[in-house]
Amino acid sequence: MTYTSSTVRVPDVATVPQHIAIIMDGNGRWATQRRLPRVAGHARGVDAVRTTVEACARAGVEYLTLFAFSSENWRRPDDEVSFLMRLFVTALEREVGKLHANGIRLRVVGDLAMFDKRIQDLIARAEAKTARNTRLTLTIAANYGGRWDIMQATRKLVEQSVFAGQAADISEAAFAQHLAMAYAPEPDLFIRTGGEQRISNFLLWQLAYTEFYFTDIFWPDFDGAALEQALASYTGRERRFGRTSAQLEPQAQNVDPLPC
Ligand code: FPP
Repeated sequence: MTYTSSTVRVPDVATVPQHIAIIMDGNGRWATQRRLPRVAGHARGVDAVRTTVEACARAGVEYLTLFAFSSENWRRPDDEVSFLMRLFVTALEREVGKLHANGIRLRVVGDLAMFDKRIQDLIARAEAKTARNTRLTLTIAANYGGRWDIMQATRKLVEQSVFAGQAADISEAAFAQHLAMAYAPEPDLFIRTGGEQRISNFLLWQLAYTEFYFTDIFWPDFDGAALEQALASYTGRERRFGRTSAQLEPQAQNVDPLPC
């Protein structure tokens, strides 16, 4: 199934977000506060990933997308980048069996050609093993950048349309089908831990109508209670997608939505 853009058609909204996207920030500061090396924060971050996946599955969230390594994270010190790569490999080796046993599908999005062949093979095997699971789709964004995604989708669309003399076919919906996460609805809720209030080149296209939630909690401390708070905040939001509050009243629900 492919989902259309929120700017093309107003999506259905449920009390529990169907898709949550998270920037897991604050690992380094968590470690520094404890006089530990920064990488100790990343290691503890894996525990928070496990806790969050479990809590989302229990809450009925269908898609959880985690920004594990951005296209700009290569700029970090070499030893930190190497540690993150090793951590990713270890997590894949150790956790995929558990994900599978719990009905969770794993997908990895990003420019994976930049990773070692061994990592690429591990990813392919993990994706294949969990491909038929439907309870929750866990997407790890690795060497992912929102601008990279828009560019790669543009290239695919141009190859398909313009060279075939069909420039008029370049629409939002046609474009969105080429994005790395075309298989998922746009996020309902975006969470960033660690106190910063930025998108940092995450899902630039897909966050157009997403509700944002920022918390000062460092990622290694993010747990079920912290997720509950984010979900409670989400439940209290009015998602208008360009419409007015009055249009959202029950009696107004049957009228055709106005273009926005
Ligand atoms: C940002 O915190 C975190 C990262 C760049 C890496 C995130 C990785 C993990 C949580 C562990 C691995 C995850 C998986 C899915 C295997 P930061 O280092 O920028 O923290 P700071 O802002 O305090 O310096």
